[in-house]
Amino acid sequence: MGKKIFSGVQPTGNLHLGNYLGAIKNFVKLNNEDQNECVFCVVDLHAITVAQNPKKLKDNIYETIATFIACGIDPKKSIIFNQSSVSAHSETAWILSCVARMGWLNRMTQFKEKAGKDKEKASIGLYSYPVLMAADILLYDTTHVPVGDDQKQHLELCRDIAQKFNNDFNADNFFKIPEPLIQKEFSRIMSLRDGTKKMSKSELSDLSRINLTDDKEQIINKIKKAKTDTLQLPSASADLEKRPEAKNLMGIYSSLMDVSLEDTINKFSGKNFSEFKENLSQVMVDKIYPISLEIKKLLREKKYLDKILLEGTQKADKIASEKVKKIQELVGF
Ligand code: AMP
Ligand code: TRP
Repeated sequence: MGKKIFSGVQPTGNLHLGNYLGAIKNFVKLNNEDQNECVFCVVDLHAITVAQNPKKLKDNIYETIATFIACGIDPKKSIIFNQSSVSAHSETAWILSCVARMGWLNRMTQFKEKAGKDKEKASIGLYSYPVLMAADILLYDTTHVPVGDDQKQHLELCRDIAQKFNNDFNADNFFKIPEPLIQKEFSRIMSLRDGTKKMSKSELSDLSRINLTDDKEQIINKIKKAKTDTLQLPSASADLEKRPEAKNLMGIYSSLMDVSLEDTINKFSGKNFSEFKENLSQVMVDKIYPISLEIKKLLREKKYLDKILLEGTQKADKIASEKVKKIQELVGF
């Protein structure tokens, strides 16, 4: 049987290799499996949980859609739309925020990381962010949610909310309980400057990440400057445990080549980093640079992107508005 897929990406700029290998590459695979019904959402309501420049936000929405398509998601097969255009998302988030418990949200590690030391100054939206994410997923009777490793806890919360709603309103199976789809390997790509930190859009140093819009020279330069250690490449994966940078770079290579980490270790065992980096640069340019070119081309075709958004919004709105009506009935509105 086919799967019902939903996933979201925030339009916060600087989409990078981690977004691609951790999430979008998997979206494309699911999009290409015949029986699946896929919905891919640009989650602008999530983006404003931290301050955004309105003009930049608009540009970033276009860039995220262009990235989806440039990476290989087919808008004829999958629904692509922008979250704020479908009002059922905000409406459902409010209802679910009355189902979710403070104690559950207090455990969310991403909030703790993002709010930093001064929690008092974080927005309420940043705190209740995972409830909106649950609304996104549950509105579409989603069975599977492809995400990177950092979203695992939010998915568990979504399952708890769905179960509690079904219980509270005596509605067995009303919300489907979704499964996360997190790749077994390479689901967490680390910074090129520090192998213990996640590759991130908001990291100050651009050298820490490969952006999906980088040109050839930038890619080559960033790989050249990527942090390594002074040892030779190992002959067994256990030897990578205390070498986060080597582990990350070899993982990136494996994921781009669609081979296992073992294969990559066997290929480069005993070699030095300069030789490995040359190979890594080459695959990166082969796989990422065409995406970068395609994103830039699509961004010059705003009318085409607007058409895709409009069609996607209509399809998403049809599904979500029917579901929200049933939610409201169950609640007693
Ligand atoms: P975001 O940019 O936070 O909206 O994330 C979009 C998708 O990319 C989510 O599924 C994340 O889990 C995934 N993602 C973000 N950063 C990384 C990373 N460094 N490694 C792997 N996946 C990531
Ligand atoms: N919270 C996700 C992230 O930051 C983005 C997101 C929003 C999402 N809604 C979603 C992912 C629904 C999967 C399903 O990466």
